[in-house]
Amino acid sequence: MDSLLIRGGVPLYGDVQISGSKNSTLPIMAAALLTAEKCVIRRVPALSDVHFMASIIASLGAEVKVEPGCVTIQAAKIKPHGDYELIRKMRGSICILGPLLARLRRARVSLPGGCVIGTRPIDLHLKGMRELGAEIPIRNGYVCAVAKRLQGREIFMGGRSGPTVLGTDNVMMAATLAEGVTVIHSAACEPEVVDLANFLNAMGARITGAGSPTITIVGVKALHGVEWEVIPDRIEAATYAVAAAASGGEVNLLGARADHLSAVTDKLREAGVKVERNGAIINVKRGSRLKSVDVTTQPYAGFPTDVQAQMMALMCLVPGMSIITERIFESRFTHAAEMGRLGADISIEGPSAIIKGGKPLSGAPVMASDLRASAALVIAGLSARGETKVNRIYHLDRGYEDIDGKLRKLGARVERVPGE
Ligand code: EPZ
Repeated sequence: MDSLLIRGGVPLYGDVQISGSKNSTLPIMAAALLTAEKCVIRRVPALSDVHFMASIIASLGAEVKVEPGCVTIQAAKIKPHGDYELIRKMRGSICILGPLLARLRRARVSLPGGCVIGTRPIDLHLKGMRELGAEIPIRNGYVCAVAKRLQGREIFMGGRSGPTVLGTDNVMMAATLAEGVTVIHSAACEPEVVDLANFLNAMGARITGAGSPTITIVGVKALHGVEWEVIPDRIEAATYAVAAAASGGEVNLLGARADHLSAVTDKLREAGVKVERNGAIINVKRGSRLKSVDVTTQPYAGFPTDVQAQMMALMCLVPGMSIITERIFESRFTHAAEMGRLGADISIEGPSAIIKGGKPLSGAPVMASDLRASAALVIAGLSARGETKVNRIYHLDRGYEDIDGKLRKLGARVERVPGE
């Protein structure tokens, strides 16, 4: 397994091109299953999760071609089930359930595994499919969905931690080919849900309200192929913005959507980071004195859970105490212990992490665990004195396109060490 060797203490300067959104690309690839015609998806990031999803869709019988920045999918003839091992390994694959049910009225999808950030249940996905008329017995680790017909309904999709992003996606995709009108209440409002709704409408679906808590889908008979460009990755953009602030440099984010970053920009400014928008460029630099701030993660448009770990790395560097509260996932502080190995002072109290920042960090070997925790360790390593080796960086390669290349271009002393 590859590692990243970081020699910290160098401020980041320069431009970084933000890639297409991973969390937009995955459901949009799944949505291509809703038609027998060709779909061409552009600005697709070169990520292992995208290749994984392409293999899953190909295992269903679709023709899939992955080229740099572009995925072409033609699901002319597909089966209701794919490669169990592949589907089980990636949580995002659950979003093939809705399209398969809509297209074939049958779907056999393995239950996605949990991961380090939580149990990751799919009860809301199953509730939405049942409400549309499917029976969904669980057998031998598979969801075995079947529906004579899908009938539009009013469906409340809120869960104990608020809306579900992929659950909203699944119901929205299934409802595009259901009879009648479906209304999703307590829908997720993330920009990636809006991107998917816009993609589906370009295919001939009739969806309104995406981006609000109430989405209405009027079922249609069939959908057609389309060419699409996914939105930029707001979490990647936020990650480089925090890295710029943590390193004490100045970075231009190219191609990011400022309107998708309001909560992050607001919090960084509160911490004393200068964030300026110059047209399509977002300029980020550390201000004269950073302040410790409190963060609570919330569903969009609140502070994103996918940027929580990165903010913790920044707060470790700032004198004072900050409290980071994770309201979306039940165990998303695995990075805290690893940051402790770099000298950070973090204690966990239930859903909150208490960071006593300001002590200089010193490099050490650390273990990546989940995608965003890994990014936080890289940020901490960039600011630590000496050498930090981040192991198991396959986690990073799932969600950050060419992260070592982009960081080197910004002046970081980072090299990828092939695994033993
Ligand atoms: C999406 O996951 C993202 N992944 C996650 O990003 C992101 O952290 C998450 O949304 C929240 O914003 C993709 O889009 C591929 P949820 P998703 O369903 O849809 C609970 C990353 O780093 N829940 O919105 O799987 C769940 O346990 C990844 O890029 C239920 O209770 O997340 C959690 O507490 C990590 N029942 C909360 O809802 C369900 O049926 C939000 O989860 C579904 C979810």
